[in-house]
Amino acid sequence: AAGPAPASGVKAGSGGRITMGFAQVGAESGWRTANTKSVQEAARKAGVELKFSDAQQKQENQIKAIRTFIQQKVDVIAFSPVVESGWDTVLKEAKDAGIPVILTDRAVDTKDTSLYKSFLGSDFVKEGKAAGEWLTGAYAGRPGPVDIVELQGTTGSAPANDRKAGFGEAIRGDGRFRIVASQSGEFTRAKGKEVMQAFLKSQKHIDVLYAHNDDMALGAIQAIEESGKKPGTDIKVISVDGIKDAFVAMTEGKINVVVECNPLLGDQLMDLAKKVVAGESVPARVETEEGVFPQDKAAAALPSRKY
Ligand code: AHR
Repeated sequence: AAGPAPASGVKAGSGGRITMGFAQVGAESGWRTANTKSVQEAARKAGVELKFSDAQQKQENQIKAIRTFIQQKVDVIAFSPVVESGWDTVLKEAKDAGIPVILTDRAVDTKDTSLYKSFLGSDFVKEGKAAGEWLTGAYAGRPGPVDIVELQGTTGSAPANDRKAGFGEAIRGDGRFRIVASQSGEFTRAKGKEVMQAFLKSQKHIDVLYAHNDDMALGAIQAIEESGKKPGTDIKVISVDGIKDAFVAMTEGKINVVVECNPLLGDQLMDLAKKVVAGESVPARVETEEGVFPQDKAAAALPSRKY
C-alpha cells in the first residue's frame, strides 16, 4: 500500500523537504547550547533543511537573519526573540512574503497575533512564581526580614520580565521578603559573577540569591565562595533552568532549588513546522512541561538529566 499522502501545501519543488530558517538568540548559557543542539538534531531526524543563524544576543542580528531567510524564500521561519518588543515590522515582512513564523522559547510583545502561527515554549511567569513559592515555603514560620538579591536575565527579554513578575507575585503578600538589589547578569556566568561581587560589596546583609538562570547562579556561587561565605547555607540560592552543572551544585549543597525550564524543544518545533507549512491549523500556544527540584531531589535526578 502507498504510504501516507504528502500533506497538501508542502512545496512540491523541494520534493516535500521543508527549509526552515532558525534565528537563535546566541550561545549565552548551558540552556541555550542544549536548545541549539535539540533543534539541529530534530531537524536532521525530521528531514528538515535547517538554515541556522546565531544572533549573539543582539536583536539587530536577528532581524537581519530573518530578512535573509525571507530573501532565501525559506518555507518557515522559527526564532527565539532576544527581547520582547520591536518585531512588528520584520514579522510583517515575513507575513507579506507568505512565510509562516513560529516563535520558540521566547514570546514577542505585539498586538497583532496574526504575525506568527504559534508559540512553543515555557510559561516563564509560572517559573518565577514557583521560585517564589519555594522561598515562602522554606521560610514558613521563620522571622523576617529576608533580604533577597536578584540576578535578572537579559534586559527586555521575556524570561527576565516574566520570571521577575512571577517571583514578585509570589512574595508580594508577605512583608518579610524584600528584594534589596536587582540587576541584569545577562544570563551569563561571567556577568553573574561580576554582579554578585558588586552585590556582596554594596549589601550589608544577603539571605537569598534569586538568579533567573543557572549560569548566572553558578557565576554568583564563585563570587560568594571567594567572599568567604557558603552558598546554599549562608546565602540560599534559587535558580532556573536545570542544567547538569546546576544539579551537581545542588548535590554539593550550593544551590537550594532549581525550577526547571526545558530547552529540548526541537522535536515539537519540527512537528509544528510541518503542520504550519502544510496549512494545517496549530495551537496558538504549546507549553512545555516542567518541574521543580529542591536540593534533596538532586542526587536522584542527576543521572537522568538530559541537558
Ligand atoms: O529563554 C530561556 C532562557 O534563555 C534560559 O533560561 C536562559 O538560560 C537562556 O539564556
